[in-house]
Amino acid sequence: MIKRGKGPWPSGNSEVAVKKWFISRVTDGLEESEREPVASLCLDEVTQMSQGARIASDYLFPESVLDRLAVIADEICEGRPVQYILGSAHFMGLDLEVREEVLIPRPETEELVNALIIALESDFDGAILDVGTGSGCIALALKKHLSRAALYAIDVCEDALAIAEENAQKLNLDIGFSQCDILSETPENYFDVVVSNPPYITHDESSSLEKRVRDFEPSKALFVEKHPLEFYEKITEVCLGNTLKTGGVLAFECHKDYAVDVKELIEKSNGFERVELIVDLQGVNRHVIAINKLN
Ligand SMILES: C[S@@+](CC[C@H](N)C(=O)[O-])C[C@H]1O[C@@H](n2cnc3c(N)ncnc32)[C@H](O)[C@@H]1O
Repeated sequence: MIKRGKGPWPSGNSEVAVKKWFISRVTDGLEESEREPVASLCLDEVTQMSQGARIASDYLFPESVLDRLAVIADEICEGRPVQYILGSAHFMGLDLEVREEVLIPRPETEELVNALIIALESDFDGAILDVGTGSGCIALALKKHLSRAALYAIDVCEDALAIAEENAQKLNLDIGFSQCDILSETPENYFDVVVSNPPYITHDESSSLEKRVRDFEPSKALFVEKHPLEFYEKITEVCLGNTLKTGGVLAFECHKDYAVDVKELIEKSNGFERVELIVDLQGVNRHVIAINKLN
């Protein structure tokens, strides 16, 4: 059934009136700094036009579009992330489909992908494995920028893989997807790069998460069952069991409170050199990149 929006309605159908109205409707659901950018995103999405194009064409919002915007505003006030409402998220210039089965790609993950693109030459033609691919954001952005690389992506969640495959098809990017539980299975093949943004939140931390993360993002993507380093230990062990080639790169995104521990566990494995901790744009420890020195 198509949801119908409820009033109050804007004082007019112009860009200025509708934007002002939409911002007033999302006041209860968003921080002040988020309201204007989210309003712009929603207006662009429902009209399939940029603000510039609407202004240039003296666009007047029809009732059907106002109706859709009212429904979106109500969902935002219920706490549902705008990316799930619109069904899309932007990641390194890619427009990705997202639904509740996948994590919404984060800006700090773009920083990890950027660090890898800088670390690898633009004509890099090795094999890259993305562990826990979710929407496919990391694998897709790497393939987009390193077109000669062979990209593989695994996830334990079939529904996530289906969304990642849809994204790959839509963007015409060639990625080899397969279902794999990294905690109990070893991926086939050997790779020059293994990258992962794995789950790292303990259930004890659940109450400190933002409501829109805790209530709407997939728990399989967020939570660990045993301890926060569970996936890092396992992926490091899998890499040293020959999955990562000698001289290959291991790259992790981490919980800000555990990035130092991840660095230490990689160092203690004795299998890596040049283990580097990267601070993100928020100024917190966020990524660890290391080079495999063993066969
Ligand atoms: C934090 S999300 C990251 C998603 C995506 N790579 C990103 O950066 O937005 C972690 C992903 O790992 C997957 N995952 C959880 N447990 C896994 C397991 N045992 N083996 C493989 N993937 C797993 C989840 O389904 C989820 O897609």
